[in-house]
Amino acid sequence: MKNKDNHNQWGNKKDKYGQMFFQRAVGKLNEMESSKALAKIIYPLIKQNSKILDAGCGAGHYLRSILKLSNKDFQYYGIDLTQSYIDLAKKIKWKVKADFQKMNVEKLSFKKNTFDISICSNVLLHLENPNLALKKLVITTKKFLVIRTLISEKDYITKEVINIKNKNNFTNSIKPTDFIYYNSFSKKTLNFWINSAKKKCSIKFIKDQDFVANKIKQDSVYRQKKTSNTKILMNKQFNGPLMLNWYFVLIRIN
Ligand SMILES: C[S@@+](CC[C@H](N)C(=O)[O-])C[C@H]1O[C@@H](n2cnc3c(N)ncnc32)[C@H](O)[C@@H]1O
Repeated sequence: MKNKDNHNQWGNKKDKYGQMFFQRAVGKLNEMESSKALAKIIYPLIKQNSKILDAGCGAGHYLRSILKLSNKDFQYYGIDLTQSYIDLAKKIKWKVKADFQKMNVEKLSFKKNTFDISICSNVLLHLENPNLALKKLVITTKKFLVIRTLISEKDYITKEVINIKNKNNFTNSIKPTDFIYYNSFSKKTLNFWINSAKKKCSIKFIKDQDFVANKIKQDSVYRQKKTSNTKILMNKQFNGPLMLNWYFVLIRIN
């Protein structure tokens, strides 16, 4: 079931993410540092006809970064819960076979081992059921899964309260009416969820330090007007009071 509150951030009338993703996908805006870094990780693994899943693909902007590095004729599948992003992705003429569809990553409906490589970047932290998403992703992937998400020593469930309707943001019992999760999980918890798929996996955590502070500042000028933004303090990334401890989780499935 789609969690309405938790998905209000994406694709609502005020949402400018779709346009930003689209501009990146067609090369009118810079590639994100994370899409460049992720493309760098997976392109040596891509073979002719490899099937690649991008879960939470937005307008397919990571595909642009992958295509810049790989000349293989792979097949790309992008899924996202926001229909308007999928519609934007479908407007683009891609160099490889690219299929986009609306789907909830927590309920991936592909068969076991459908994809050689799967990526899921900057999505897990925002989900209601990241455990289910991770399990489904491992089941659906044959060889290699890369996640980008927030990691901390302990598990933290954090809600950013968002104001969409310009009215009181809380119910009487001080529950946010609209919010987006910014959860951060421990390596132990992620290991546990990955292993719940009951596949033999080797798991590697790599701290994402590949960001260029100046580049994020430049992006922030654009983002400030359009979306929420990331700030740099003491060479660390913050969103409001939250320190963004980004990691890539590399999961090799045997
Ligand atoms: C922060 S954006 C990340 C987009 C892209 N992966 C990136 O790194 O730029 C989160 C994306 O996840 C999508 N999303 C949120 N919940 C989802 C779900 N349950 N299933 C699939 N996609 C979801 C949103 O629509 C949005 O496109």
